[in-house]
Amino acid sequence: MQDVTDLPFLRTMAAFGGADVYVTEYFRVHIHSRIEPYILRSITENPTDRPIIAQMIGQDADELVRTALELKKHPIAGVDLNLGCPAPVVYRKNAGGGLLRKPDQIDTLLGRLREACGELPFTVKTRIGFESEDEFESLLHIFKKHAIDLLTIHGRTVKERYQTPVHDDWVRRAVEQMPCPVIANGNVVNCQTGLAYLKCTQAAGLMIGRGAIRNPWIFEQIRASLSDAPSPMVTKRMVLNYIERLFEETAAVISDFVENKHVQKMKKYLVYIVQGYDAGFEHDIRRVKTKAEFFAICRHYLDSHDPAPDLPSENSKLFCGFSQFL
Ligand SMILES: Cc1cc2nc3c(=O)[nH]c(=O)nc-3n(C[C@H](O)[C@H](O)[C@H](O)COP(=O)(O)O)c2cc1C
Repeated sequence: MQDVTDLPFLRTMAAFGGADVYVTEYFRVHIHSRIEPYILRSITENPTDRPIIAQMIGQDADELVRTALELKKHPIAGVDLNLGCPAPVVYRKNAGGGLLRKPDQIDTLLGRLREACGELPFTVKTRIGFESEDEFESLLHIFKKHAIDLLTIHGRTVKERYQTPVHDDWVRRAVEQMPCPVIANGNVVNCQTGLAYLKCTQAAGLMIGRGAIRNPWIFEQIRASLSDAPSPMVTKRMVLNYIERLFEETAAVISDFVENKHVQKMKKYLVYIVQGYDAGFEHDIRRVKTKAEFFAICRHYLDSHDPAPDLPSENSKLFCGFSQFL
């Protein structure tokens, strides 16, 4: 995730259980682009002991091939093409989710990138259409043509952004039709929602984004449930430790540390973490300016052995639609 899954965030995730496989933030690819050193560090210094896939976003075949060949020189588990980003500034340039309006161009890009990757896995992350789910059948047809190694599906259209339930029926259809493993993505916010999404789609696995910022133990909890082992119970104090660790790790990579600026950065993570707690937590954390104020508020709401809320609230702007899986 952009501005989230950087090196210090990966380090923190790994310390709290972590995923089986990671994907970098996307590398922007255009005629003047160079591999961004900051994102590259999450590959060259990958602290997770797990494979990491390098994701690219762009629409120019020559430039994407050039970048894939450069990325191949580094210890990556694969190259991924983003066909899902719904940000207008991206899709208006026909990159990310914008490419879903250009099936012929996707066809060309997948052909060129498959060839460029050679033995290295080539994977695709997509939404199910730009305007409408009706577009997905023909997109699947193109994905099938190019021997991709993995297809991750965020089960919404670009126009649906993040605010709807996911179309699990389309993910299921992709699972049935694709010769490669399909990963289901979108709205996994706790163990129960993850297991339900897996069950109704029969997907080979899950990709978890915002739910992992809120609860880094989610991977461990789902793995435990799948193997009938006891699932780790998360207390508020554990969440406090997680926030402290995230603060330290993210501060450690900044050469010109400015306390107030860093508190602002931490608030970007906190907007996810506070969901499901007393509404006062979100209100109070928005107003803090210093590190001391930040941790005073965190301790006020989290310094206890009570269980942390398992679910965010369904009507929050950041997490909605997941009750389809409850
Ligand atoms: C802040 C933010 C940044 C994101 N950046 C990326 C990205 O760089 N590449 C990508 O494939 N998806 C990105 N996404 C989308 C997520 O990977 C995921 O598809 C989406 O959030 C739905 O899954 P979730 O409900 O598990 O979060 C981003 C999402 C958010 C909220």
